[in-house]
Amino acid sequence: MNEEQRLQNSQVKPLQKPEKDYSQYFQSVYVQPSLKDAKKRGKEEITYHKDFVIDPVLLGMGKGRKFFIRTFGCQMNEHDTEVMAGIFLQLGYTPTENVQEANVILLNTCAIRENAENKVFGELGHYKKLKRDNPDVLIGVCGCMSQEESVVKKILKTYNQVDMIFGTHNIHRLPQLLNEAYLSKEMVIEVWSKEGDVIESLPKVRRGEIKAWVNIMYGCDKFCTYCIVPYTRGKERSRRPEDIIQEVRQLAAQGYKEVTLLGQNVNAYGKDFEDLSYRLGDLMEALRQIDIPRIRFTTSHPRDFDDHLIEVLAKRGNLVEHIHLPVQSGSTSMLKLMARKYSREQYMDLVRKIKEALPDAALTTDIIVGFPNETDEQFEETMSLYREVGFEHAFTYIYSPREGTPAAKMEDNVPLEVKKERLQRLNNLVNEFSAATMQNYQDQLVEVLVEGESRKNPEVLAGYTRTNKLVNFAGSTDLAGKLAIVKITKTKTWSLEGELIEVLSGQEVGVL
Ligand code: SAH
Ligand code: SF4
Ligand code: F3S
Repeated sequence: MNEEQRLQNSQVKPLQKPEKDYSQYFQSVYVQPSLKDAKKRGKEEITYHKDFVIDPVLLGMGKGRKFFIRTFGCQMNEHDTEVMAGIFLQLGYTPTENVQEANVILLNTCAIRENAENKVFGELGHYKKLKRDNPDVLIGVCGCMSQEESVVKKILKTYNQVDMIFGTHNIHRLPQLLNEAYLSKEMVIEVWSKEGDVIESLPKVRRGEIKAWVNIMYGCDKFCTYCIVPYTRGKERSRRPEDIIQEVRQLAAQGYKEVTLLGQNVNAYGKDFEDLSYRLGDLMEALRQIDIPRIRFTTSHPRDFDDHLIEVLAKRGNLVEHIHLPVQSGSTSMLKLMARKYSREQYMDLVRKIKEALPDAALTTDIIVGFPNETDEQFEETMSLYREVGFEHAFTYIYSPREGTPAAKMEDNVPLEVKKERLQRLNNLVNEFSAATMQNYQDQLVEVLVEGESRKNPEVLAGYTRTNKLVNFAGSTDLAGKLAIVKITKTKTWSLEGELIEVLSGQEVGVL
């Protein structure tokens, strides 16, 4: 098809059936999720698809239409939203920040805790009136909540303002699903619970021009007993190194300054390759050679953190000295109940190894309080581990039972009051350590990647250190996207203030 025909085709409204037989695109779509299937981890090989193309008949479907995506949850979801935005643009839609003027509204949801889900249901409630006032607007639910049977049932029963539900494995099918939703009077549901493939060459619209996310693997096979992610994201599957390296090279060429490698458990990278012995340490070694100032990764599972990775990280350069290493609990018996597959001692050994190789590494963590059967003593073990490691920061959560997980069958027997009190005590400790960490920066020189004007105070610039500390200082806005050496003059609990000493050229990265 030449460009002219393509343009002509793009005038075709999707409500019109095309003359040719494109029946595969108009099959009634109705696949509901199954937690039972999502739990399976079979031997099927992962298929790599490198050829994402949108059928010409669907191009132009978005002409004169606007899309709005609201994203909940982790960076993985944020990045999926960038991919969906890329698909919308290819279909001819334009983005809008104003939900009232959108023709398609998508909620990219998170299922990690009950309050995350409640936020989504609250938001959906608001859309009832919007749909009544404008019945032509398409409302879709995607992301991790769509993978849950109970959520889909609840939406079917109570939220008939929803037009489409699709899962985390169905994002590449967005063009067909939108088309089906325009044609169908029924709610379109397509949620594959199978283990998932790897789909390359999906379009993306990245949110920023300085920092970018790059998926290195999908899914999770750890099955921590409290966690829904292995059911919502499928089995662990790694992208091929050459595809990742090429993407990072392209980002460097486009002027990006920082890449965050994404995966639920990045340390399991490469475990699934049958033809290749290649793990995260190898990948980081390759990415070290690329001319981009900063590379981060998240999230690390302590179990798969190997010595080679530590060795490579110790070479620094563009590999920053910040490691997010969720511990969840300081009690070995709790860790066992959580099926984390390491003990307190093993975690501490790993921390010691990391600190030996990278004495100034910033360690941060995630902690759950009030897991079933957690006693006061066991909680105290979490507090003592926190002090022993000296984390710079932590994300702390009250345990939330997730339907279908093994922990949901355990009795949730820690009273809410006790859970809240533990969380409060832990948060006080976290704040104490965060403030102390910040104070250590007084009068120090730090490398800052400048992002632009501070959102809170446009008089100053904002940027982050290699260890991810927010720094504000006075300077010209053309420093955005540059690396600068800043002397810290004042420390606060959550940010630092300083004065500009020097603007760096690309070669001097990691000199401090
Ligand atoms: N893959 C990451 C975690 C992703 S979820 C890892 O294993 O490190 C982010 C955090 O949410 C987890 O580290 C855990 O602390 C918290 N979390 C997960 N499930 C939870 C639940 N059911 N209740 C409370 N917190 C939970
Ligand atoms: Fe969830 Fe555990 Fe997998 Fe992290 S490693 S996503 S906590 S199952
Ligand atoms: Fe939430 Fe799914 Fe991420 S459950 S934390 S959006 S992987």
